[in-house]
Amino acid sequence: MEKLIHTKNFDFKVTDSGLVFDESMVTGEVKFKKSFDMNPLLRKPFEEDDHSWNYVFVNGVYHSEEEKKIYEEKGMMNGITVLNTGDLNGEVRKNSGHYHGFNEGHVLPYAEIYEIIYGKAAFFLQEADNFLKDEELNVKSMRMVVVNAGEKIVIPAFCAHCAMNIGDDMMAFYNLAVPCPLHYEPITNHKGFGYYILKKGNVLVAVKNPNYPIMPELEVKGVKPSEELNLFADRTVFEVFAENKDAYDYLGQPEQCQEAINKIFY
Ligand SMILES: [Fe+2]
Repeated sequence: MEKLIHTKNFDFKVTDSGLVFDESMVTGEVKFKKSFDMNPLLRKPFEEDDHSWNYVFVNGVYHSEEEKKIYEEKGMMNGITVLNTGDLNGEVRKNSGHYHGFNEGHVLPYAEIYEIIYGKAAFFLQEADNFLKDEELNVKSMRMVVVNAGEKIVIPAFCAHCAMNIGDDMMAFYNLAVPCPLHYEPITNHKGFGYYILKKGNVLVAVKNPNYPIMPELEVKGVKPSEELNLFADRTVFEVFAENKDAYDYLGQPEQCQEAINKIFY
C-alpha cells in the first residue's frame, strides 16, 4: 500500500510502514494504531485481528530545525494524523478521544486546533466538567461537528473530542496544541463516546452508546472561520503561524477565548 497525500504545506506518503516525508523534513516518531486495538472503544469489537491499521500519526512535523525551534520556544506541538479508509466493524473510523486536564494556574483546560488537510471529517465534542471526579459523567451537551478539507475546529473547554473519517477516502488532519494532561479513561470506561456513528452505504447513522445512563440528543454542527481566532478560509493554520508566531497564543489562555470558540459552530 502506498498513497501520496498532497496538501498545501505538507506532502507525504502513507505506506504500510508509516508516514514518509521528504528527507529534508524534521519529524518525530511515527506511530500506528491497529484496528484491532480499537476494540475497547467499539460498539462491536473485532473477534479476530484483521491486521488493518486504523490510524497513523506523527508528533512534530517541520520543514527545518529552525522551524522546529520556533514551535518549541512557543511551547507548542504540531502533528499530522491519517485515518484509514474502510470501517471499524461497521463504525466509521475514529481515534481514541480524550478530555484535556488542567495546567497549573488555569481554571479551564487548554484549547487545541485541528485542521482537515485531506478528506472529510467529523468530531465529537462531548461536554462534561466532572470528568476527574469519581462519579458518573455528567454530559451537558453532545455535538458532532462536520469538518471539511480546509476547515478548522477549535476544541472548547471541557469537551472530550475524537476525530472520525466520514468520507470514502483517507482523512488527514493537522493539529496544533500546547501540551496538557490528557484523560482517556472517562471514554474507555464507557466503551467510547455517547454515540457510535455507523456507515450504511452513503448514510451515517448515530446509535446511542448504552453505557451512558444519561446522554443528551446528538446535535450536528458545522464550523466557520473566525478572525478573532486567526482561522481563515483561505489560509492554513501552518501558514498563519509561520507569519505570526503569536497567532495561536490563545490555546494556552483558555479563559480568554471560550466565547470566540463557541461562535465558530453553527
Ligand atoms: Fe486533544
